[in-house]
Amino acid sequence: MNPMIRRESQPKSQHITWMCGKVTTQQREVRNGHPSCVLWLTGLSASGKSTIATELERQLFNRGNQVCMLDGDNVRHGLCSDLGFSQEDRTENIRHIGEVAKLVASHGLICITAFISPYRADRELVRKLLPEGRFFEVYVNAPIEVCEARDPKGLYAKVRANEIKNFTGISAPYEAPEHPELELRTDVLGPDECVGRILEYLDGFEESWRSVQVKS
Ligand code: ADX
Repeated sequence: MNPMIRRESQPKSQHITWMCGKVTTQQREVRNGHPSCVLWLTGLSASGKSTIATELERQLFNRGNQVCMLDGDNVRHGLCSDLGFSQEDRTENIRHIGEVAKLVASHGLICITAFISPYRADRELVRKLLPEGRFFEVYVNAPIEVCEARDPKGLYAKVRANEIKNFTGISAPYEAPEHPELELRTDVLGPDECVGRILEYLDGFEESWRSVQVKS
């Protein structure tokens, strides 16, 4: 285990105090006209996460929602550029993204994330970071053979040529969600249908949020 990786919930720093802002998440949500949440897309490489995430972001933006998307490859160019693909590094990657997603949602946005996030415990940790009912796990599910046949980045070919180690689904594990809020079979459904299912789910979430706003 990498000693640099901290898993305790207690910060390493001492003598630090939480500073509360003067604008609440609820105030931001009321101004935006919709609730905030994290839509956590998980699945194998080439399962369709980024395709769904980018189209979903576009459609939410076009209907006037405040939305932000975080994508695996992009985040690894910056915030997580010091992390590789060992189990420890992936865990740290997801912990970083989880904290960012929490920050984004706490500012009233719908945060879409597209990371393989292969370990159940890591995804559950992110769920626990968010307020109850604000983290939605979306299992982007396609059989590995289908992902390998798609191979849009040519990575599976490199794995077979022994050029990439620890590749999810082949030489590193993928722990499928047991109780995802949504499962999208991308070998059966097209991207538009997948996006439609997520929008439908979000509509239900928004409706129940609205009914609470009306009562209070
Ligand atoms: S995660 O496991 O830590 O969640 P993440 O989603 O950030 O992974 O990055 C996955 C992307 O990195 C893949 O879409 C793929 O393009 C690239 N990649 C490079 N090496 C690997 C590997 N060994 N396993 C999986 N993906 C890899």
